[in-house]
Amino acid sequence: MTSTLATHKVQNLLAKLYKDSAENDPINRQAAMALPETATRDEFYTAMRGVYMAIGKEFGNLLYATARTAKAQKIVEFGTSFGVSTIYLAAAIKDNGGGKVITTEYHAEKVERAKANLAEAGLLDFVEFRVGDARTTLEQNLPQNVDMLFLDGPKGMYMDVLKLMESQVRAGGVIASDNTDHQGLEEFLGYLRNPEHGYISAPIHTKRGERYSAHEITLKV
Ligand SMILES: C[S@@+](CC[C@H](N)C(=O)[O-])C[C@H]1O[C@@H](n2cnc3c(N)ncnc32)[C@H](O)[C@@H]1O
Repeated sequence: MTSTLATHKVQNLLAKLYKDSAENDPINRQAAMALPETATRDEFYTAMRGVYMAIGKEFGNLLYATARTAKAQKIVEFGTSFGVSTIYLAAAIKDNGGGKVITTEYHAEKVERAKANLAEAGLLDFVEFRVGDARTTLEQNLPQNVDMLFLDGPKGMYMDVLKLMESQVRAGGVIASDNTDHQGLEEFLGYLRNPEHGYISAPIHTKRGERYSAHEITLKV
């Protein structure tokens, strides 16, 4: 069987998006870099609305492999941006026989670009987009027995979104979290790493250019 992720169509699109990100993110990031230290989280993400902030290829492959291994047909993603991670997840859903990624993003203009990218990948049918604050968009109309939850929005909201979602994730389902080396995630990681809460959890690193990114892969027992 050929993996949808390995097709020329998807690989060429990812290569195009990573090239665009490498060329333009440093320029588009300048508005956020100029913000005062007192800027709020919303002001930061508004200034970053032209920036990909996307997962790297290694972690994308890991997410795809994890979703395939979990035979995921229902995935919830917190933090769509331009849909790079959504492409990996939707490809896995397609190769698992169908289903949906429910992905949520605060900025409507980012969602429009994500939709165009998923359409170009031929994966639009496998994604439901929700626009707004994830604490509202994920409050209702969620499927039971979610196979996989991917956390990649503002780090200070990981615990809130986990609390909102954890009863919906099925036993044997997976929670994948990105950028877990960010400050302030100690309580969140402590919660996932305490087996009394019904999880088995481990940190993992993937290479991104010359640097390593930190993630957490968690099984709901
Ligand atoms: C790190 S980026 C996501 C990158 C994406 N997962 C990828 O790999 O392509 C985080 C995203 O969360 C979005 N965001 C910020 N506040 C949010 C909120 N309250 N609810 C949902 N998404 C939010 C940001 O606009 C940003 O696009």
